[in-house]
Amino acid sequence: MATDPLIEKFRTAGQGQVFAFFDELAPDAQRRLLAEAAEIDLAEVTRLTQTLLAPGAVAGVNLGGLEPAPYEALPAKGGDAAAWAKAKAAGEIALRAGRVAAFTVAGGQGTRLGYDGPKGTFPVTPVKHKPLFQVFAEKILAAGRRFGRPLHWFIMTSHHNHAATEAFFGEHEFFGLDKARVHFFPQGRMPAVDFAGKIMLEGKGAIALSPDGHGGSLRALERSGALDLMQREHVDTLSYFQVDNPLVRCVDPAFIGWHILRGSQMSSKMVTKAYAEEKLGHFCVQGGRLVVVEYSDLPMAMQRETAADGRLRFEAGSIAIHLLDREFVRHVARGEGVALPFHRADKKIPTVDATGQPVQPAKANGVKFELFVFDALPFARNPLVIETNRKDDFSPVKNAEGVDSPQTCRDDQLRQFGRWLRASGAPLATDSSGLPVVTLEVSPLFGYDEDSFADAWKKLSPPPKVSDGLYLS
Ligand code: UTP
Repeated sequence: MATDPLIEKFRTAGQGQVFAFFDELAPDAQRRLLAEAAEIDLAEVTRLTQTLLAPGAVAGVNLGGLEPAPYEALPAKGGDAAAWAKAKAAGEIALRAGRVAAFTVAGGQGTRLGYDGPKGTFPVTPVKHKPLFQVFAEKILAAGRRFGRPLHWFIMTSHHNHAATEAFFGEHEFFGLDKARVHFFPQGRMPAVDFAGKIMLEGKGAIALSPDGHGGSLRALERSGALDLMQREHVDTLSYFQVDNPLVRCVDPAFIGWHILRGSQMSSKMVTKAYAEEKLGHFCVQGGRLVVVEYSDLPMAMQRETAADGRLRFEAGSIAIHLLDREFVRHVARGEGVALPFHRADKKIPTVDATGQPVQPAKANGVKFELFVFDALPFARNPLVIETNRKDDFSPVKNAEGVDSPQTCRDDQLRQFGRWLRASGAPLATDSSGLPVVTLEVSPLFGYDEDSFADAWKKLSPPPKVSDGLYLS
């Protein structure tokens, strides 16, 4: 029987089944299995199985004393216009000083979209079919030019898509960015366990490992050396966004300014929920702390509650856009008085039976553990919730069809380009939803937000004809 100190550790922890087929494996496969096992923090797995798998542990989140969170409303919705202007100016100063870096979390599995390849390589724009990564790259390049300071861009990948992501950027010459400022690092992995808490195998020589959730980004930033690099480069603020949302303002001066002026360690953008059942997390306050309660955890009756003015009581929805202070991330990553909770997700996990034969389960047969980045909010000093217009920041590609699909995202991009053109005085026909009747695309290198677009448009003389559709670059 195989002996190795690591195997012994697993046996002592009651996880010896991980090595059930070890003696049958070729030496290379044995080495790979040992390397996978070495990634696992057995004490963490034991703690999680004792807490999250114990009888009664599935009861859900504590809803006691939950109140809607306050937020800074947009000027158009009653917010303080002068304070917003001050915030924008402060954000622009921070961008000119090179204090801000962009940060994309791209380690997810993208199962709902069902696309083969890193999600960031998925084509999204209406005319040129640019992939998501190119849209962000060009926005980041353009913002660097506008503020006279090229930005650093951190991209969190997964074990599964890391090499393909790096290769994609290499093939496309980093879309014009200085490659010394684009930094890839893979996130951590967690093992799946069965309902008895035993770590599962996905094959005789492979552990069922999966990414540790977008909240794993905080420890991956620390482990990869990204935080040290930021420190050396005098970058103190990370602008966090998801890989599936091409509408996002990768760096938004007003948002950054609020965060800096208020001395916040973590700030989040919010939109008002479009309807009660919309699947967004809810910004709430509990015991004086800001928290996000997922749509699946807030009872529908509460999601439907209305205030005296008829608006939803829990109206503040999270769109996964955050600003993070560098030293706060370090503090959370090191677990200094802070422990992000793991969430349990019951899943169908392909595995092997006691004889090593593959099993494709028809129903959930195990549990995956994931960290969520918004769980850091309650630990942050002065966390802020700042309103944004959904149409300026949020149209994710999650599903192959229907809601949040390539089609809805394409239409939202068209509406945005149309709005910018009309605001600059271009005659453009649209339908009642604001969808232009012709096909348009604006390269981020021409204009990547309302301000940069307006400035670039003013310089065109004569302005191009819009009625036949166009690509502005
Ligand atoms: P989603 O919650 O949409 O998950 O991720 P997903 O894995 O991409 O897609 P599905 O659920 O399998 O269809 C939101 C964002 O968080 C990132 C994703 O890449 C996306 O940008 N993410 C998610 C990570 O970086 N790592 C993870 O472990 C999970």
